[in-house]
Amino acid sequence: MAKKILILPGDGIGPEIVAEARKVLDLVNEQFNLGLEMQEALVGGAAIDATGIPLPAETLEAAQAADAILLGAVGGPQWDTNPDFQIRPEKGLLGIRANLGLFGNLRPAILYPQLAHASTLKPEVVSGLDILIVRELTGGIYFGQPRGYRTKEGGVREGFNTYVYDENEIRRIGRVAFEAARARNKKLCSVDKANVLEVTVLWREVMNELSAEYPDVELSHMYVDNAAMQLVRAPKQFDVIVTGNMFGDILSDAAAMLTGSIGMLPSASLDANNKGMYEPCHGSAPDIAGQGIANPLATILSAAMMLRYSLGEGAAADKIEAAVSQVLDQGLRTGDIMSEGMQRVGTAEMGDAVVAALRA
Ligand code: IPM
Ligand code: MG
Repeated sequence: MAKKILILPGDGIGPEIVAEARKVLDLVNEQFNLGLEMQEALVGGAAIDATGIPLPAETLEAAQAADAILLGAVGGPQWDTNPDFQIRPEKGLLGIRANLGLFGNLRPAILYPQLAHASTLKPEVVSGLDILIVRELTGGIYFGQPRGYRTKEGGVREGFNTYVYDENEIRRIGRVAFEAARARNKKLCSVDKANVLEVTVLWREVMNELSAEYPDVELSHMYVDNAAMQLVRAPKQFDVIVTGNMFGDILSDAAAMLTGSIGMLPSASLDANNKGMYEPCHGSAPDIAGQGIANPLATILSAAMMLRYSLGEGAAADKIEAAVSQVLDQGLRTGDIMSEGMQRVGTAEMGDAVVAALRA
């Protein structure tokens, strides 16, 4: 049966990196006879420019109808000054996550041995690094009500958001994380701020309750400030980290840099049935957009995750990941992962090299 893939290039470097992932998907589609049907739609700033809003009904419908979604990135300075938050590119992305119930965000941070010297941390601190951040993606302070921006009496401006989780939201992301830990090294660290925030007191309670169902997984807890420090001090102590939406946003960027570059990090955002949206963890990088120098590997690796998690095509995913490793072995590097003695390439050259490795 044909499988529908929705491709959302988005803004900034999004279209450039997605084009390379598309080359890779087209090829494995042929090689493995996957029966993927690819369709593109607008989201983010590109959708605002074309239709006035960041998530047109057409795009949302296509996302709902698709078996899986591959997204580039959204956002850029030209849309950042709109005082109406509903007309910001990020709302397109958040709207898809919320409408499709994509609460389980998996962000693996794996150091390719070839890139040990591209990290800003010492090679001995990061070599062999393989951690998974499980971030709750449809709740917490990103979505809590009430929220707003207003002017109080006396003309004083005030902004406010609400950090709220109910126990069901915590339990379902907790289960995703315990299951993931069970399939890996059986260590789960739950990150909260339970010394200050009631919402995370509940978070900790629910994680402890769940832990009774997963006696084979070793659960620990860490405050988020300490977790940020431990990630750069001794990141290999972690196996799986589970945390809320905002802490996960921040910690996953930090974890990304351990691997040499945020340009290497893929992600999966899954609903309760493993339908998902896949995107690189980096953003739209407006400063380098249109120059053909962005690293497409995080998007290519996101396409591999899509094949594995939502489409049940693990063999095709393995092959893509092996091809990425091969081009790194060949010494090819985009600017973000460049180091001495390596060969600097652009976005399309990197994508073509992965395609060539897949053909070999
Ligand atoms: C991410 C991004 C998004 C987020 C932005 C673009 C809304 O930073 O996926 O990490 O904050 O979730
Ligand atoms: Mg982020």
